[in-house]
Amino acid sequence: MSAKFRVAFIGAGGRSGAYARHYVTRDDIEIVALADPVRHHRRFTIERTGIKNSPEEYDDWRAMLREQKDLDGVVVITPNYLHADPAVACLERGLPVALEKPLATTKEDCERILDAERANGGRTLIGFVLRSTPFYGKIKELLEKRAIGQIVSIQADELPGWGVSSIMNRGLWRRFQKMGGGALLEKCCHDMDILNWTMDARPRSLNSFGDRLIFRPNPALPLNCDECGVATQCKYFRKPVFASFEDESEQELHAYIREDSRCIYNIEKDGVDVQSVNIEYENGAVANFLMNFNTGGERASRNFHAVGHKGRIWGNMAENKVYWFDNLKNQLEVFDTRGDGSGHGGGDQKHAMELHRMMADPNYRPEQNAHAGYLSAVMCFAADISRVERRRVDLAYKETGRVEIR
Ligand SMILES: NC(=O)c1ccc[n+]([C@@H]2O[C@H](COP(=O)([O-])OP(=O)(O)OC[C@H]3O[C@@H](n4cnc5c(N)ncnc54)[C@H](O)[C@@H]3O)[C@@H](O)[C@H]2O)c1
Repeated sequence: MSAKFRVAFIGAGGRSGAYARHYVTRDDIEIVALADPVRHHRRFTIERTGIKNSPEEYDDWRAMLREQKDLDGVVVITPNYLHADPAVACLERGLPVALEKPLATTKEDCERILDAERANGGRTLIGFVLRSTPFYGKIKELLEKRAIGQIVSIQADELPGWGVSSIMNRGLWRRFQKMGGGALLEKCCHDMDILNWTMDARPRSLNSFGDRLIFRPNPALPLNCDECGVATQCKYFRKPVFASFEDESEQELHAYIREDSRCIYNIEKDGVDVQSVNIEYENGAVANFLMNFNTGGERASRNFHAVGHKGRIWGNMAENKVYWFDNLKNQLEVFDTRGDGSGHGGGDQKHAMELHRMMADPNYRPEQNAHAGYLSAVMCFAADISRVERRRVDLAYKETGRVEIR
């Protein structure tokens, strides 16, 4: 191992900052290479996060892996449908991988990653940052202390603000099932993981309903925001992120700007914007989850409410408080769960440093691993089958660790 951990990034878009800006503050990590086909995105990541050394830049991650012989770890932050190939290649090289969520957009790709990990003794950190937040950390701690006894039910929801709704429904790849894997997978594989983690049991059956109910075509509005008289009052209108990097020659850059300048109602897309999932766990406990993109303000963000034999735990993540009601004592206790100010309710910094832990200790295996990513992704695939086919879907666990969706 070199004196500094040598880290490479595959993908240098919006999410890259959540890792890079924490690594640049460390004197034992160096970002030595970035692979992204769009030069402006690489420049944006370097300049925005203050990477001072001059990392090697590559259009193609395969060339980067060929040339960068002494890497200690890799962060894979490509669009969802492009997770599997780079993740498998890094695992085959024996590198610890921080792979953004969701694991992949198809069950086959998820299983390719699991196979590569197993065959090479590899280690994957999946981007489940919520596990690193003080909010869910406190909930998990209380549940492990059996503060409410045996869990009977969890009710949870993800009600993202306007900005996230805009990215989800207008973004270049997220708005298409084929690239994002569906709104539930892209946005709420996190929440499926939190349900599994807090239940500490495997999901057995799911039912799901949902549709595109909010961002439907509106003939009263033009397709392009710059022709729309109400664009600046629209909650979903955002100035294109990459607009400050004007360069007529870069087609991909302009694709980003163009897509970001289109009406959230009229832009072509194929995802749902409201979806519920009802889950039965193997221990008999049940969970009820709701995703809805038309939210903002009080009580938006993530809500969680667990009921057990001895009490209840609840909270709203944006409020930064966890409430615990003890039935026997008839007493309410409130915990402050404010974090370190990093993104995702204080989860981003701790999460990014998990890769550091993996590089420093070859025996360290994070709990938010490829298998956790697989289970949550399979739940999203199963929920979409249930929603489309209008039926209950069962999950059968094989001895190989694979899950069959029935
Ligand atoms: N953990 C979280 O909470 C969280 C939050 C945001 C995004 N994400 C995940 O991070 C990933 C990236 O999201 P984003 O918001 O940065 O998207 P983005 O569109 O802003 O960035 C994706 C980047 O990948 C690049 N890219 C495309 N093809 C590539 C290839 N073949 N090789 C290398 N790079 C390529 C694009 O040019 C772009 O710069 C997604 O999987 C997303 O789900 C996770």
